[in-house]
Amino acid sequence: MTTRLTDDSGTAAVEVRGLVKHYGATKALDGVDLEVRQGTVLGVLGPNGAGKTTLVRVLSTLVRPDAGSARVAGYDVLRQPRQLRRVIGLTGQYASVDEKLSGRENLYMIGRLLDLSRGAARARADELLERFSLTEAAKRPAMQYSGGMRRRLDLAASMIGQPAVLYLDEPTTGLDPRTRNEVWTEVRRMVTEGATVLLTTQYMEEAEHLADELTVIDRGRVIANGRVAELKAKVGGRTLQITPSDKAQTAAMAAAIGAARLDGVAGAHADEAEGVVSVPILSDEQLTAVVGLLGAHGFGIAGIGTHLPSLDEVFLAITGQKADGGKGADPATAAGGDTDADMEGGTPALEKKHEVEVRV
Ligand SMILES: Nc1ncnc2c1ncn2[C@@H]1O[C@H](COP(=O)(O)OP(=O)(O)O)[C@@H](O)[C@H]1O
Ligand SMILES: [Mg+2]
Repeated sequence: MTTRLTDDSGTAAVEVRGLVKHYGATKALDGVDLEVRQGTVLGVLGPNGAGKTTLVRVLSTLVRPDAGSARVAGYDVLRQPRQLRRVIGLTGQYASVDEKLSGRENLYMIGRLLDLSRGAARARADELLERFSLTEAAKRPAMQYSGGMRRRLDLAASMIGQPAVLYLDEPTTGLDPRTRNEVWTEVRRMVTEGATVLLTTQYMEEAEHLADELTVIDRGRVIANGRVAELKAKVGGRTLQITPSDKAQTAAMAAAIGAARLDGVAGAHADEAEGVVSVPILSDEQLTAVVGLLGAHGFGIAGIGTHLPSLDEVFLAITGQKADGGKGADPATAAGGDTDADMEGGTPALEKKHEVEVRV
């Protein structure tokens, strides 16, 4: 389990070709190609029902594809499932810990299953409990943990064996912002330590924080891929939001930006009720130019912020249609809000039935 991939030549740690998995009429995977280069994070971005979990299950040898091939760390999912399982770590959309055992016992047990000595398993458990702010709760049974604590315990469990390839299936859906940040820090640390990560997410912001490259999927198909910056450029970069010191100046500010016709700045939108001017920008230079222009015109600025395109905006830009195809809830919120309590509620009922407990 402590195996590291020895090949550092930038080859693919995960290689997926023409992967197909149908459930009756549902094309969960409809010919997916993707690659995760070794030592990098690939973000698989897609709305609910896009096929993300199915992909992770195929790559974990839990679901057999109808067609196509996949190799992880050089092992074929169909022909070498046992070897493959030894080099991967998996964190599902919900915790797969033993309810009756304490957090510490859970981690210790997994360490022992992975052939760590008693001392090493204890040390690793304590180290991970500390990392995930679970030390205080270490002795309580997992059934008493909040949703966020379970998620952290689950992540810690997947990291015990220092897997070469880690799958994180919506690791932060339903977590509060603080816990989300902790998870992000840990994922980055794993990558620094040499892991390759395939991360599924519904959040553009998460992809932005963690992923080197992105594969956007929808209804079992890859609809875009590339480096995060490239994809963002395609989508139209960021939105600059400026709050004037004097709310009454909102419209005048937007008009001044529009009239200046700055290079690459199409225009500005004034929200007079909120007192905010929004400007789509593609570069830092444009941000500087807009702010400079406002200064030159003598406008007072109380606040400046930029916001990244949401998954919705990404989809709109790439496909010309909404991420949910007009049916169902807003994909950014459908999987649960920002509280621990929402986490369980966000798991689609379908997935619950097919839960497989895996400890790699
Ligand atoms: N075991 C299953 N049986 C039937 N349909 C399934 C099963 N697993 C997934 N699906 C369907 O396949 C599609 C993709 O699901 P999933 O991979 O869970 O998407 P995501 O993880 O991106 O939300 C959805 O339409 C889902 O309802
Ligand atoms: Mg899923």
